[in-house]
Amino acid sequence: MTQIGVDITYAATLLKNGELVAIPTETVYGLAANGLNKNAVEEIFRVKGRPSTNPLILHVAGIDQVKTLVQTLYPEAIDLANKFWPGPITMVFPKNKTIPYSTTGGLETVAVRIPNHPLTLDLLRLLDFPLAAPSANLSNRISPTTAKHVYNQLNTKIPYILNGGSCSAGIESTIIGFTNKGPVVYRLGALELSEIEKVIGKISVHPSNQILAPGMFKKHYSPQTPLILTDEVSTILAKNLDKKIGLILFKPSQNYTHPQIKIKYLSTQGSLAEAARNLYSTLHETDEELLDLIVVEKLPDFELGLSINDRLSRAAHIE
Ligand code: TXA
Ligand code: MG
Repeated sequence: MTQIGVDITYAATLLKNGELVAIPTETVYGLAANGLNKNAVEEIFRVKGRPSTNPLILHVAGIDQVKTLVQTLYPEAIDLANKFWPGPITMVFPKNKTIPYSTTGGLETVAVRIPNHPLTLDLLRLLDFPLAAPSANLSNRISPTTAKHVYNQLNTKIPYILNGGSCSAGIESTIIGFTNKGPVVYRLGALELSEIEKVIGKISVHPSNQILAPGMFKKHYSPQTPLILTDEVSTILAKNLDKKIGLILFKPSQNYTHPQIKIKYLSTQGSLAEAARNLYSTLHETDEELLDLIVVEKLPDFELGLSINDRLSRAAHIE
């Protein structure tokens, strides 16, 4: 049985012993272990069923600790750190020798962030090592935004889930790398590009056909029920009259009719931040209803809408 609670001292003891603990962050729950302990990190990969080449993000409580993990902090990175950490941006740097290749999936670089959740920041302050933590779901499944989501996927596989309530941002961090041609976005996420560009100027998005790390693969974040992402909702409904459908819309707008349909909204007011916060919960809930098909209306293609559509297009991709 996996225990759920708010005891950071117990969580710290487990982590010091090389065990795994699920931790809340403002984006999604992470499956954490000592990021400098090769065996502990390998246990993360085993529990998730994650390919060993897919690198992990290291979480720390302060910028001084980041400096001990990387070879250089670029000037743009310092500006971004000062503005957004603790917060939902991850940055990639050349790694220091202390970090095992198991953590970085064999890469010479390491991804780091300071998460913005009070319980997890308090936990990190009790530790003298960084926490490697991918999202606390089984590989390729929907990311968890509550302790219950973690429990449903990982019960009996880990000793403890630190319960920090519902994640306030609801989708994963934005990941930035630094190349000799300038800063590049590796993964769209909870921090909007326009916010980042206000600090460091124009930033390019890494082409999705060039895979640097397996997290960039097309199929990811998937429910068990087939999912279609569309801006032609009526057409899709008309083609699937015989199916039990869960329809997920951005906000209450037009009425859709269909013989067997259940409709949910990601936001009551048409707020993209609210839609991001509700995205994974709504997918988990709809997936549990044992329907034939989930149809999701594409969100507006700007700001957080871009990040949400990115996740949904990966959830929808069928090999
Ligand atoms: O919000 C988040 O980032 C959450 C919370 C728990 O912090 N974590 C998360 O981790 O989303 P995960 O493992 O699901 O995604 C990590 C992704 C990898 O799949 C990869 O795409 C990218 O981060 N990544 C990690 N290290 C990298 C590196 N050295 N170079 C390029 N990309 C890297
Ligand atoms: Mg993940």
